[in-house]
Amino acid sequence: MRLNLDTICLNCFNPLYKGGYCANCGCDEETMKAKDYDDVLAPGTLLRGRYLLGKTLGKGGFGVTYAGLDLINERKIAIKESYISSICGRGDNHRQVVLRDRSQEQVLTDAKQRFLKEISLLKENRDNPAIIQVHDVFEENSTVYYAMEFLNGQDLSKKLKKAEAPFTWEETAKYMEPVFLALISLHRFNIWHRDISPDNIFLCEDGQVRLIDFGSARTGLLNRSFDIDAVKKGYAPIEQYSEKVMQGTWTDVYSLAATVYKCLTGVTPPGAPERSRRDELREPSSYVEGIPAHVESALMKGLEVYPEYRYQTVAELKCALFPDHQTIPLADRIVADKPEEKTEDKKLNVRIRGLAGFYAGREFPVEGILTLGRREDSCDVVYPPYMPGVSSVHCNIRFDEQKKLCVFRDLNSTYGSRDLGGKQFLKGVDIYLNDGEGFIIGDDNVFAVLF
Ligand SMILES: Nc1ncnc2c1ncn2[C@@H]1O[C@H](COP(=O)(O)OP(=O)(O)O)[C@@H](O)[C@H]1O
Ligand SMILES: [Mg+2]
Repeated sequence: MRLNLDTICLNCFNPLYKGGYCANCGCDEETMKAKDYDDVLAPGTLLRGRYLLGKTLGKGGFGVTYAGLDLINERKIAIKESYISSICGRGDNHRQVVLRDRSQEQVLTDAKQRFLKEISLLKENRDNPAIIQVHDVFEENSTVYYAMEFLNGQDLSKKLKKAEAPFTWEETAKYMEPVFLALISLHRFNIWHRDISPDNIFLCEDGQVRLIDFGSARTGLLNRSFDIDAVKKGYAPIEQYSEKVMQGTWTDVYSLAATVYKCLTGVTPPGAPERSRRDELREPSSYVEGIPAHVESALMKGLEVYPEYRYQTVAELKCALFPDHQTIPLADRIVADKPEEKTEDKKLNVRIRGLAGFYAGREFPVEGILTLGRREDSCDVVYPPYMPGVSSVHCNIRFDEQKKLCVFRDLNSTYGSRDLGGKQFLKGVDIYLNDGEGFIIGDDNVFAVLF
């Protein structure tokens, strides 16, 4: 290691800190000690033996973001620490993340697992330049971290605040179109961001746009047990407030539409729960002139309170907003009823809904036994012959009236079937699935069961 840690300024990371003063940025011991955030790691903390932490860039409900220096590559980085402030604190050494209440142990373990899995997926599968580049994912201090590229610039929220007027459609499109493409790419891996808002879109000095803040991203669907969602009012759709409404690609659709709405009008949409009682969302053109009609109608549909009436995929919203840039086929429209409270005697509408893969956006009713596979003569949901990982007669699904659960069975398929977390189901065995749970067959054919 060539760097001399004693002379590195923990504010700007230049090696010009001598005698308690940095000749580069002018920061001194007092400014370094000044704390903007509680419960965060102190500047000078070394993680994984190589990441030297500087100041805290931000602290949200799920995590803390620090500026840092990678001592091995000698490059500036940013580090996100998983830290659920509602249930965690720091141990005696001010580093270890500890639970304030031991009964939340499972919640923390689950959150850590999910964080690790999602960020690892992000690291492996990123094929889009607008997704923040993750360098490293690791565990330390009883929590999980990821190291990422350091961005110079400002987030969209700051840019909006500084601007004298809301953005024009052309300007908004320039900032937002890369984010649409990034999300379409993420959704292919069943990662929903779930926290799209102007402060999580970063405008780099070189003109590039990056989607950041993956603390609450989630593979799979439902958050059934303990809700640790820190929802952002105005951007979070109704399903992030309610366990009963399923989350998925349409969740990011709402937040994206809300972000575009904010850019164009300068106004944050009212919160989804208020809107579900009395909808006072105004059309963007009631605030500013010159918004193209197709943009307005696309936004209003993207901002539908109930997921059923909303665009189901980001690709659909993108096609509606940017009809001339259409490169992605529109997924089939879903026609579904408005969610209703279930009562014991009401006849359930049991169905499976494709969330990703060949049948993304399609629903199939589960009446009797529904069989999935490639053989036309014996399957109800038929895949084309080339579909990788799907057997000729792959699996079936039925509804158990007594247990009020769906029963999934893999029919000894060659490559098997998985749950939404990617775990293989046993073959030839009944697997019970509750409302909102699901299964994956082949490479990426993801279904939720709904009733
Ligand atoms: N890679 C990065 N490079 C530079 N600044 C960043 C980076 N990631 C986040 N930030 C800044 O830190 C703020 C908080 O980070 P974020 O990941 O959004 O966490 P949270 O919203 O949970 O506080 C962002 O709004 C952004 O201004
Ligand atoms: Mg953020």
